[in-house]
Amino acid sequence: MKKRPGDIKILVTRIFPETGIELMRKEGFIVTVWEEDRPMTQAELIERSLDSDALYCTVTENIDSHFLGKCSHLDIISQFAVGYDNIDIEEATRLGIPVGFTPDVLSDATADVAFGLMIAASRKMFYLHKTILRGSWDYFRPKAGLGIELKDKTLGIFGLGRIGMEMAKRCRGAYNMRIIYCNRHPNETAEKLLGARLVTMDGLLKSSDVISVHCTLSDETKGLFDRHAFKKMKSTAIFVNTSRGAVHNEHDLAEALRKGIIWGAGLDVTNPEPMKPDNPLLDMDNVAVLPHIGSATLETRNKMSRMAANNIIEYYKNGRVPNIINPVALDRR
Ligand code: DGY
Repeated sequence: MKKRPGDIKILVTRIFPETGIELMRKEGFIVTVWEEDRPMTQAELIERSLDSDALYCTVTENIDSHFLGKCSHLDIISQFAVGYDNIDIEEATRLGIPVGFTPDVLSDATADVAFGLMIAASRKMFYLHKTILRGSWDYFRPKAGLGIELKDKTLGIFGLGRIGMEMAKRCRGAYNMRIIYCNRHPNETAEKLLGARLVTMDGLLKSSDVISVHCTLSDETKGLFDRHAFKKMKSTAIFVNTSRGAVHNEHDLAEALRKGIIWGAGLDVTNPEPMKPDNPLLDMDNVAVLPHIGSATLETRNKMSRMAANNIIEYYKNGRVPNIINPVALDRR
C-alpha cells in the first residue's frame, strides 16, 4: 500500500544546504536532521535508520553490507554526491533498495578545481604563498620559483565522463591543449568537439604533460596510479586527482615527486582523508593540495541538495528516481 507523506520518515545524516530539506518538508514528510557537526558512527546511523523509511546521506556514511543487512527495510537511499564508493551498490540492488545520486550539477565546480590545481602545481603557487607567510620573500630572484607553462601541451584525461569533459574544455580553450583520454568507451562528443583521441593506459601515461583523473573508485581503479604508472609518465608531467584519493597510491606519488620521476601534483582528494598536516606532500614546492572541495560552491551544493531531495520526492510520488545508480532495484520492489 502506498505510504502517505505524513507517515514517511526521512533521516538526513548531516547538516546539508536547506534548499532540498525544505522541499521534502513541503511535501509533508517527517524529516529528521542529524544536527551534530560530525558524521554519525555506524552504530548511530543504524539506530536512527531503523526508525526511518528513507535515508538522505553523503560520502561520510558507510553504507556497507552490515548496514544494509540491518536496514533492509529502507525504501530508498539518496546520496548527496556523484561518487558512491561508500555504498555497497550490489547489496542495495540485491535487496531492492534504489540508490539516488547527484550527477551533472557538480561537473563545472569540480572541473574548476582540477583546472585550478593544474595551474597551481605548474606555478608552485601554494608553496610560494607559504614562503610569504614564513617571511622569506626578500628580493626578486630571476631564477627562483620557476614553474612550467601549459600552452600547447597534452592533457590526458583518465575517465572522460561529465567532469572530465568540462576539464578538457577548459584546457583546450585556455591553453589549446591537445586532448587524449583513456576510457572504457569512446566519447564521441569529446572527439567531435575537442578532437580528443582515445588511447591505451600506457599511451596516456607516456604522452601526457598533465594527467587528470576523473574516474569512479572501483576494484579496477583502486591504486591504479602507483609507482609503475608514475615511472611511465614524463619527468615533466603533472598528476591531478579530483576523483577519489584511493585511485592513486600516495606513498608512491610522494616518492615519484621526491625523486623527480614526475614534476608536480594537484590533489583535491587524498588517501587517507583527511590528510595529516605533517604529510610530506604539503612541503613540496610543486604540489597543491585541497581538502576535497570539488563541488563546494554555493550554487552547486544547493543544486545537489535539491536533486537529492527530488530523488526521494519522486520515488514516493511517482515510483521513479530521476537520478538513480541502480535502476534494476526499482523492479525488485
Ligand atoms: C562527490 O560528489 O562525489 C564529491 O566527491 C563529494 O561531494
